[in-house]
Amino acid sequence: MVKLGNLELGEQLLLLAPMEDVTDVSFRLLARELGADAVYTEFISSEAIIRAAAKSMKKLVTSPQERPVAIQIYGGDPAVMQEAARISEAAGPDFIDINCGCWVKNVVRHNAGAGLLKDPPRMERMVRAVVDAVKLPVTVKTRIGWDANSINILEIAPMLEQAGAQALTIHCRTRVQGHSGDADWSWIPRIKQVVSIPVFLNGDVKTPEDAERAFRETGADGVMIARAAIGNPFLFRQIKELRNTGSYMQPSLEERVRVCVRHLVHSCEIRGEKRGVFAFRKYYSGYFRGIPGSSRLRSDLMQITSLEAVVERIEHFGEHGAGEDATGNVSDLAMAA
Ligand SMILES: Cc1cc2nc3c(=O)[nH]c(=O)nc-3n(C[C@H](O)[C@H](O)[C@H](O)COP(=O)(O)O)c2cc1C
Repeated sequence: MVKLGNLELGEQLLLLAPMEDVTDVSFRLLARELGADAVYTEFISSEAIIRAAAKSMKKLVTSPQERPVAIQIYGGDPAVMQEAARISEAAGPDFIDINCGCWVKNVVRHNAGAGLLKDPPRMERMVRAVVDAVKLPVTVKTRIGWDANSINILEIAPMLEQAGAQALTIHCRTRVQGHSGDADWSWIPRIKQVVSIPVFLNGDVKTPEDAERAFRETGADGVMIARAAIGNPFLFRQIKELRNTGSYMQPSLEERVRVCVRHLVHSCEIRGEKRGVFAFRKYYSGYFRGIPGSSRLRSDLMQITSLEAVVERIEHFGEHGAGEDATGNVSDLAMAA
């Protein structure tokens, strides 16, 4: 049983990864309903939190129905992180996650994110500062090292445990790799040998079979999924189905449409119609991947700006699928069928 403080999360956890501009509350709720055992907010700047920047304060909002949920924060200054952690705790998540893995230059050069991998004592001070500031469990998400010549996760992991981290998520790449190259899962069993807290595997879990293999080969306490879950919250259910029955079903077109529309409408409630419709474009390929006619659907949706028209177009696709002609009209053939 994976426990973070008093929080019992289960076994072989499936976690929805923090993703900027992706894992807002509308998506997190769906992921939880469809089988994720815990979800994470996108990363939130500690500097912005302590300034009470409006955009960041919105990101702190979670819903009771999505629990367990973590708020992920990042920054380079332990005192600022402490204050931000206190404010985040007051927003009512179940735990706080510290981002020590973001590879983006702008983050790294402020000694934040994966920049901390170059300065382990600073990383330790940061984690200790946050642990001391809050009552909630604190977890850390990081990478295996800065580059191929400085992989230091086997030194860093016990240090983070000592500093009070209650679980570690390891994106099995170096900072220099960014998102390229294969994630090297072989680090997970080695890390598990040097710590006694739960270790979650992240990187390249794309299918239910991948998840099964990740648990089997590494003994990870959980797998965290990012890109493969975008527009595909069904993946969490499929992984559990495969685990429990040995096989799994694809979601029907009707379900894809229903879940997508619900997600879109909620996204517009959060952001307002114009921004909500625009921001939603990143999800369509996930929702309709592999369905005949979906590339035309997607290119149509890129042109439409009103919520009503988008919903109409998606529902039309749901009713007629590939039986549409190039303009989205239903062909005589499909009508006759
Ligand atoms: C669009 C996008 C946004 C991301 N934002 C965050 C973030 O806010 N915090 C974080 O720790 N990682 C972030 N990541 C990294 C992912 O959480 C994850 O570590 C990485 O994508 C590898 O997992 P995957 O192979 O399942 O995609 C982001 C990744 C993507 C693709």
